Amino acid sequence: MKPNGGCGSCSHFLRLAVNSNLSLPLAPEVAEQVVSSGLRELNVSVDGARQETYEQYRVGGDLALVLENCRKLAAAKARCGSTTPRLNLQFVAFAHNVADADDMHRLAGELGMNLRLFKGVVPGRDWDREGKWQYCVGPIPVPCIFLWGTAVVSSDGGVLPCRGAFYREDDMGQIALDPDELGESTFRSVWNGRRFQNARRFYRARQGAAEEERHICFNCPNTVMFERWREHRARGGSRADFDVGYTLNDIWNYFWNRRPHVALRRHRTDSRIEATRPVP
Ligand SMILES: C[S@@+](CC[C@H](N)C(=O)[O-])C[C@H]1O[C@@H](n2cnc3c(N)ncnc32)[C@H](O)[C@@H]1O
Ligand code: SF4
Repeated sequence: MKPNGGCGSCSHFLRLAVNSNLSLPLAPEVAEQVVSSGLRELNVSVDGARQETYEQYRVGGDLALVLENCRKLAAAKARCGSTTPRLNLQFVAFAHNVADADDMHRLAGELGMNLRLFKGVVPGRDWDREGKWQYCVGPIPVPCIFLWGTAVVSSDGGVLPCRGAFYREDDMGQIALDPDELGESTFRSVWNGRRFQNARRFYRARQGAAEEERHICFNCPNTVMFERWREHRARGGSRADFDVGYTLNDIWNYFWNRRPHVALRRHRTDSRIEATRPVP
């Protein structure tokens, strides 16, 4: 993250929030740069109140170090007299760590942080069959927020449709990693390119050639749900009697289950990134 000159607020009306595991040693001066960068919110992933549970999900992580980093940030805020960034302790609950939930409340209180506690998604069936815990969001029938409003760019230059797309074949396009090589491969050209246009079109009419049906957005639960919602509305249905039909876990599993069919990503360690061959 590059500080924006320490003006205390993000420029161009952008509100920046960052999710971090905060798991590397944090120098006090870097903590002050984070505070003066204008960052509004920092969600620190702490998925366990004890080292034993923490490291089950954060393999190799050191809970004491992360908590020390949280204290350093709070101290930097105090030194700078800053109310930002808002510091949140983010606890994603699973079967293996959910017994720590009360301790996480206490820990957040001790650190003076807000606790964001929600249920984690998992491959396969929901781990919390009784529905005692809530996901951070529930599926709702609206056009996909990613396709119109969120840029997701991987370190290998691949432009992804959304955060759920892990695999190279699902990239919407590729931008050059070196500015001197940009040419046509700018973010703008990908954002306005055929794959994004097709994906947005599926929200008006979920139709396409056989090849287009392989597009990750075609059978995405969000697209399918929106098509069902439009049909429901056409029959005079309302939000109150609409069956969403999916949980967040189901949606995440859609992405997870694409795995066997497609290629793994490659990352920046490659000296050159070859062109990908995404479906339309
Ligand atoms: C994919 S992580 C990446 C951000 C950062 N590297 C980190 O470790 O927090 C983005 C967010 O997803 C949350 N997260 C991780 N695993 C999750 C899961 N299985 N279900 C729901 N949220 C999850 C994390 O708490 C984090 O805030
Ligand atoms: S795959 Fe689904 S969530 Fe992702 S961008 Fe496409 S429609 Fe949106």
